[in-house]
Amino acid sequence: MSIPELTHSDLQQILKFTTDLARKAGELILEGSEAIQSASAEKDVGEKKNSVDLVTEYDVRVEELVKKEIGTKYPEFKFIGEESYSAGSRPPLTDEPTFCVDPIDGTTNFVHGFPFVCISLGLIYKRRPVLGVIYNPFLNHLYTGIKGQGSFLSRNNSQPVKLPLSSSPKPLPSLNQALLAVEWGSDRGEATIGPKSTSFARLAGNPAQGVTGGKMAHSLRSMGSAALNFAMVAQGGLDLYWEIGCWPWDVCAGIVIAEEAGGIVTGSHETFAATANSASFGDVTEQVLTGRKYIVVRAIGDTQGENNRDAQKRIIKEFYDSVEDVAPN
Ligand code: IPD
Repeated sequence: MSIPELTHSDLQQILKFTTDLARKAGELILEGSEAIQSASAEKDVGEKKNSVDLVTEYDVRVEELVKKEIGTKYPEFKFIGEESYSAGSRPPLTDEPTFCVDPIDGTTNFVHGFPFVCISLGLIYKRRPVLGVIYNPFLNHLYTGIKGQGSFLSRNNSQPVKLPLSSSPKPLPSLNQALLAVEWGSDRGEATIGPKSTSFARLAGNPAQGVTGGKMAHSLRSMGSAALNFAMVAQGGLDLYWEIGCWPWDVCAGIVIAEEAGGIVTGSHETFAATANSASFGDVTEQVLTGRKYIVVRAIGDTQGENNRDAQKRIIKEFYDSVEDVAPN
């Protein structure tokens, strides 16, 4: 079967459709939030892998809505969704246009009424993320991006503003001046949580007061949504986000939005070491997209003798020299 060629204007039309769909799904997410907040937790919240890996009736309903609308408008496109995947539908990645969807990213926040929740709709084409829409219906923040065409934020239905929000991104001398995002994830066994918490302590800790290797970053944030972390790095409100254990649907849309805002995305320690000094640095290949280890750094202003890419590379090196690699499970 021949693969349809997606032109610049095809992608714009897909973006319009995807944005409308995100807003429609957002209404269902808000309806779901009201239902969850007014019902008993036991009745409405299920568990997947363990007691902190949550799923609600609305994760499934939003995914069904999205899958149905995409299937009607683009019947030839493939679909990867968090809830269908959990239910056993695991199509391999192909070159064909493939929507990669997290119906509710930030499910734990959704359950608790913490308003950092979004729908994340990404499009993969020829095995690379090419389009992304992230919509937080609680705050009415809509992030969009198309590869090669920039990324944008619309707040409260305002005219979209180009990302990053600052027209001249600030330099970033070291992690010591950085606001970082990390996540606790749902793997809570010692083999994961031990090295993760050691890494977090090193990033936050003061080396002058006994924290060996301490970076004493400005602070660490855990927003509870991988997609919104990516969006916040794109915006420039976070300097860096790192996570081991999330999935392509958590990050696909965010990758496009962050890259189009001048950010860089790469994978594991190993991927970084193998690509840092080559032309493929920052190429989100299928291996990176599905590798479940992600790091994204915001656009950094050029300074004398150092351009954006070199500064991003320096920050990732400093970061990866400070944190421990673990296997996701
Ligand atoms: C989760 C969130 C969370 C991240 C997890 C994801 P979900 O997605 O993005 O921030 O730490 O790795 O799985 O379960 O809310 O869709």
